[in-house]
Amino acid sequence: KEKSGLKDFLHINDFDKTTILKILDRALEVKALLKSGERTFLPFKGKTMAMIFAKPSMRTRVSFETGFFLLGGHALYLGPDDIQMGKREETRDVARVLSCYNDIIMARVFAHQDILDLAKYATVPVINGLTDYNHPCQIMADALTIIEHIGQLEGTKVVYVGDGNNIVHSWLLLAAVVPFHFVCACPKGFEPDEKTVQKAQQAGISKIEITNDPKEAVRGADVVYSDVWASMGQKEEASYRRQVFQGFQVDEPLMKLAGPKAYFMHCLPAERGVEVTDGVLEAPNSIVFPQAENRMHAQNAIMLHVLGL
Ligand code: CP
Ligand code: NVA
Repeated sequence: KEKSGLKDFLHINDFDKTTILKILDRALEVKALLKSGERTFLPFKGKTMAMIFAKPSMRTRVSFETGFFLLGGHALYLGPDDIQMGKREETRDVARVLSCYNDIIMARVFAHQDILDLAKYATVPVINGLTDYNHPCQIMADALTIIEHIGQLEGTKVVYVGDGNNIVHSWLLLAAVVPFHFVCACPKGFEPDEKTVQKAQQAGISKIEITNDPKEAVRGADVVYSDVWASMGQKEEASYRRQVFQGFQVDEPLMKLAGPKAYFMHCLPAERGVEVTDGVLEAPNSIVFPQAENRMHAQNAIMLHVLGL
């Protein structure tokens, strides 16, 4: 793939800072074009994308499908019952067959190894639409949203409050490439993957802190970020986690500690009244819907990049 100019998009730190910022710039450019009503930029004309979903989705599915269509292409939704990757058929077979029909494969899977296997055997670019380990497209959209609202990502303080999950891993991998201040405040025992934390710290690019004290963490934050306490695949732990995560809800008093300039962000879907209050989600400084919208614009630029367009 590399030789033919095609790339996978699996982890943010597979790319250098210049490339990441270039993709984000492109996202802004194509967003402005689409917002203007312009419908003659059709770089994906005659191209198709297979979208494999082993888990549910609203944003990822709709933003990829719509974005690819608006730029001239055709996307196919393959739900949990369709392909049953690794069950009905081996991942390496799925990768090679779908590569025969499609120009891109986008996949949302459980085990991270599945996306690595897909990418290894596919002869077309593979885009990671979330695994148990990471969610790079989300964090690209988040970075885009921060750039739009704050002016730049560099130097901002992003404080994530909650579970040290796939979202956190992508934040850490972004911090390994672009300089900003990232803090993850999580309950003891729910810290992000140690190796990923080390990788981000050893890159020496960003200030990175992992703490168990959300109140202290949010002071001076530019962004307070939250996600569900029980991710897809962990829903049977939901009630146990609700007990353990007491004190990690992003509520009005916590946002007050963060200060008046702090924006609230959440990748959505949100469980109102659990990890975040209704009031915080609906407050004027909550930018969760522009953030969700930017999934499409960030991904359009990612797709252009992996196709070398
Ligand atoms: N944020 C996000 O990935 O949403 P979906 O699960 O609805 O795709
Ligand atoms: N951490 C969440 C993110 C959903 C977009 C999950 O994996 O379910």
